[in-house]
Amino acid sequence: MAKISALKNSTRFPSNQKHGSPHSFKKRRPSWVDVDEHPHKRKENTPLCSSSHQGKKKARRTEAAGSPSKIPKSPTIQEQRDQLPIAQGKDALVREIQENDVTVLVGETGSGKTTQVPQYLLEAGIAGKGMIAVTQPRKVAATSLASRVAQEQNVSVGGLVGYSVRFDEASSSSTRIKYVTDGMLIRELLSDPLLSRYSVVVIDEAHERTLRTDLLLANLKTIQKTRNGYTTRGKKGKEPASKQNPLKIVIMSATLDAEKFSKFYGNAKILYVQGRQHPVTIYHTAASQPDYVDSALRTFFQIHTDRPPGDVLIFLPGQEDIENLEKSIKLYADRLPKETAGVAVYPMYAALPAHQQQAIFSPPPQGMRKCILATNIAETSITIPGIKYVVDTGKCKEKRYISRDTGSGFDTLLTRDITKSSALQRAGRAGREGPGFCFRLYTEDAFQAMPLSAEPEILRCTLTSSILQLKCLGQDLETLDFMDKPDAESIASALATLYLLGAIDDSKTLTKLGRNMAFLPLESPLARSLMASVELACTLEVLDIISVLSASSKLFVDNTDNREMAVEARRKFRHPSGDHLTVLNIVKSYEEMSESQGKSGRREWCRKQLLNERCLIEALEIRAQLRGSCERLGIDWHVSCGEAEQPVLRSLLRGLVHQAAFLQPDGSYKQIMGPSTVKIHPGSSLCDKKVPAIIYDELIYTTNIYARGVSSVPRSFIAEVSVLNRRRSG
Ligand code: CDP
Ligand code: MG
Repeated sequence: MAKISALKNSTRFPSNQKHGSPHSFKKRRPSWVDVDEHPHKRKENTPLCSSSHQGKKKARRTEAAGSPSKIPKSPTIQEQRDQLPIAQGKDALVREIQENDVTVLVGETGSGKTTQVPQYLLEAGIAGKGMIAVTQPRKVAATSLASRVAQEQNVSVGGLVGYSVRFDEASSSSTRIKYVTDGMLIRELLSDPLLSRYSVVVIDEAHERTLRTDLLLANLKTIQKTRNGYTTRGKKGKEPASKQNPLKIVIMSATLDAEKFSKFYGNAKILYVQGRQHPVTIYHTAASQPDYVDSALRTFFQIHTDRPPGDVLIFLPGQEDIENLEKSIKLYADRLPKETAGVAVYPMYAALPAHQQQAIFSPPPQGMRKCILATNIAETSITIPGIKYVVDTGKCKEKRYISRDTGSGFDTLLTRDITKSSALQRAGRAGREGPGFCFRLYTEDAFQAMPLSAEPEILRCTLTSSILQLKCLGQDLETLDFMDKPDAESIASALATLYLLGAIDDSKTLTKLGRNMAFLPLESPLARSLMASVELACTLEVLDIISVLSASSKLFVDNTDNREMAVEARRKFRHPSGDHLTVLNIVKSYEEMSESQGKSGRREWCRKQLLNERCLIEALEIRAQLRGSCERLGIDWHVSCGEAEQPVLRSLLRGLVHQAAFLQPDGSYKQIMGPSTVKIHPGSSLCDKKVPAIIYDELIYTTNIYARGVSSVPRSFIAEVSVLNRRRSG
């Protein structure tokens, strides 16, 4: 254990005895506060299989036999399906959905809702000739579920089982079950307002209450009234004769607060799936842990060296923390004594490339402990087998609208404390296959102080793009029937933005420009920039830049440690106007180099320039999709402005006009639409420059408010653009 002792005393693992750190390697038993068993409650009174006692008995029998030693080593895929808790209630479930137009299904994570229900409905013929759509808030969940279900059906993805997410689709005329992001289904509404291709729409993960889920819930209510031919609530007044192409709605949630959904749909039937939750022992830290990544690292190695086999799932807020922790774990795992089991680390976050997703579901290599580093995606939407230990940092990223009065007037991703509901879900992941342990990197008081559940997104996010889509459907957000109504201020602010972008006119009517913007799979500001590029004859260049901005990971991989090196490596791409045209130079060079180099050459090139190749690969895919969208709008995307920079900056500015700021005498920048004073981010190529006016992609809130993705624009452009955009709206 010599090497481990060295680790203990290194700066990475301070033993911090004075404060009684719970992470000290020196203590055999860390000073966790043992609180209670996993407090998940079962809803005893309304189980799904209430009609079938036998079902319940069977479930218990399976549970008793559920210790790992008694489960056959590798059950076939059909056996795996049959062993899921939901399989016990299959018949009752199918019957209930058959009889009810709207059903709310509640069941613990991992019970088989998302993968099984669509297959049951298909197999029972409930979908008729139509398709079954299953919505997911996250792209990575939609694609990985589609591959799992395709595997269960023994078909390849894109055939019977497909998916459709932004910038990526795998479906065909034979597709019957389609996993879609909620955003994609809303987009489909634009071309098919009654969603007539679908006979069943399953709204999954409804408890997350994303903005798009709420928009769908509101729209589906109206669609169902039309398609099922009834006007009053529930079944009353329904006229079966007029049901040409009826729609069934299934709302699925992992949390018990389903009554609200049921009420919204005229007291729809609620069904509960009995989960199989084993006890989970929860520990809290004795003191708060400001450096949660370091704390997670130490806790992981404590588990790894002190505890029996079993995989570990660590919840972190975002990709950056995940990548940092992944590096550290690998580094220290390599230094473990030979007799200690190895560690197989797998990241899991929204932007993870498809080919890496499926690996996390497989058992780790022989003799190794699997360690999964995940965002809240592993809370309810993805169930990873084999987890016995959960480490919960208590943090997540949340999209939040920073109102114009206090900040940007845009959504910003903020790292924040999780809710009680999330904390319970996270702990629950440890007890799926047997008794488990959850290490919370926060105190019990902190847990008690957490809010019960998160506020629905519709109450805290910018509504700009959604209002634009609703306008295309001839709907008004003010009048639509929502579960929770957005407040007047955020509606007014979104309308003001759309007006400024020229998407609506002064009577709030959609303009032709606005309709084209809504057609593009882009947030409204970037859609506006793209439309401007058509007029200014620089679509080829603007598409390159917008594609990188739309990718799910960042192009620049620098952090404070390697920033100087990164600046040096990228000097040759640097454009005097700032980051946007620097990005354009990088895309051009990457493409030129790609033609001559193989895969490993490209990777090496990116590594040398400290660029994230994954971002470039994704950006080129996005660009291909956007070029296709342009063609459908009759836009010639080949039009180029050559080396000229002004048309490109002008186009970007037309979309980002509310993300502009003027230089102040003290060297900071004052937002033109908003009260904040911002600084240029140290990673920007304009960081040490003073220019009269800037536009930026985003604001980062740390000790200062930093603008990231910055370009210099002439001051005169800004005034010109706001007038122009408004004139366009006429
Ligand atoms: O939706 P719910 O949380 O109730 O469960 P599910 O997502 O349908 O998962 C049922 C089972 O399928 C779990 O045991 C998962 O581990 C497994 N699964 C998988 O092996 N691969 C996937 N991509 C998704 C699920
Ligand atoms: Mg699910």
